[in-house]
Amino acid sequence: MLKVGIVGVGFMGMVHYLSYQKIRGVKVVALCDMDARRLKGDWTMIQGNFGPRGTKMDLKGIATYQDPAELIGDDNVDMVDICLPPSAHAPIAIKALNAGKNVFCEKPMALTVRETNRMTAAAKAAKRTLMIGHVLPMFPEYEFAARTIASGKYGKLLGGNFKRVINDPAWLKHFYDPKIVGGPMLDLHIHDAHFIRYVFGQPTSVSTTGRMRGEVAEYFNTQFSFKNPNVSVTATSGVVDQEARSFLHGYEIHLEHATILFEFAVIDGEGKVLMPCTVFPKKGKSKPAKLKGSGDPMEAFLAELKEVARGAKSGKPAEFLCADLAQDAIRICDRQTASLKSGKKTKV
Ligand SMILES: NC(=O)c1ccc[n+]([C@@H]2O[C@H](COP(=O)([O-])OP(=O)(O)OC[C@H]3O[C@@H](n4cnc5c(N)ncnc54)[C@H](O)[C@@H]3O)[C@@H](O)[C@H]2O)c1
Repeated sequence: MLKVGIVGVGFMGMVHYLSYQKIRGVKVVALCDMDARRLKGDWTMIQGNFGPRGTKMDLKGIATYQDPAELIGDDNVDMVDICLPPSAHAPIAIKALNAGKNVFCEKPMALTVRETNRMTAAAKAAKRTLMIGHVLPMFPEYEFAARTIASGKYGKLLGGNFKRVINDPAWLKHFYDPKIVGGPMLDLHIHDAHFIRYVFGQPTSVSTTGRMRGEVAEYFNTQFSFKNPNVSVTATSGVVDQEARSFLHGYEIHLEHATILFEFAVIDGEGKVLMPCTVFPKKGKSKPAKLKGSGDPMEAFLAELKEVARGAKSGKPAEFLCADLAQDAIRICDRQTASLKSGKKTKV
């Protein structure tokens, strides 16, 4: 039995908690939040952009703590699952690893490359498993793309374009604070930076243009360069004022013998598949992608957390959860911001 302690009972903490209930061999034994109401089971204030609304929960038998250090000190906890704001990821993960716990931490891994170095060093020194919650490869269209690329069915990977654009999330108090959340680069684009790293490998340099908002990148376009100069990858990410289109993501992926397209947006509050995931072979008609799952984000999180449980038990997590990859993604984002600020192509 893997005994999990969740730190941070907000939107993600609730999604993780509900998902763990469906996984055999996993038990949530402890919860931590600075808000005492949540520890008493009142989750009615929790509401994210998918999944169920929070309700009154029966938390009988679960240890509750207001201070993360107390949960980390609980001998009954095998794995600490961190669902705190990004600024708390590094300090709490390091504390948990030093205490001999395995750690699963939500994305982004941390706010700076230096923090990610300290986290991986702590995992190595403690001989514990550190996993980062990059769930995008568990979303059906991205899972399909990664699986199709890896199969080699359509030949070598030539490049692509990735998009992730949102309306200004004005209700998120610290969204643009580089010391708490990190803005659109670390909260939003990190998903694509990680996916690009996952399927293309680490870029050698990035060239980013766009707009800053204070200390963080607001809207930006990046050209990623790789060792192979024939591989061409670009990404568009960030925030634009477009209330009626609150979210957009998608991709165009070029392989030697096919192109894969996908685009989804939330328009007037309703999710719309603008371009169903489709393969366009070099010759002949288009083919609808054979996707796994319904597309409900809760399913993607369940699939992710099953892999987390497997990774914690075996000490060998799936590649998309590995801290090394998440660390590379933070480095890519850091270099993108540096390139945007300097107006120069920047080594990764
Ligand atoms: N993978 C995804 O698609 C996805 C989606 C949403 C959020 N996230 C990530 O999950 C993390 C959490 O985001 P969220 O939306 O759940 O945030 P949230 O604000 O809803 O929840 C954070 C919770 O942590 C608690 N908290 C904050 N500091 C604390 C402390 N020092 N001690 C104890 N409790 C503390 C707060 O009271 C709150 O309940 C972020 O890193 C975010 O980027 C990932």
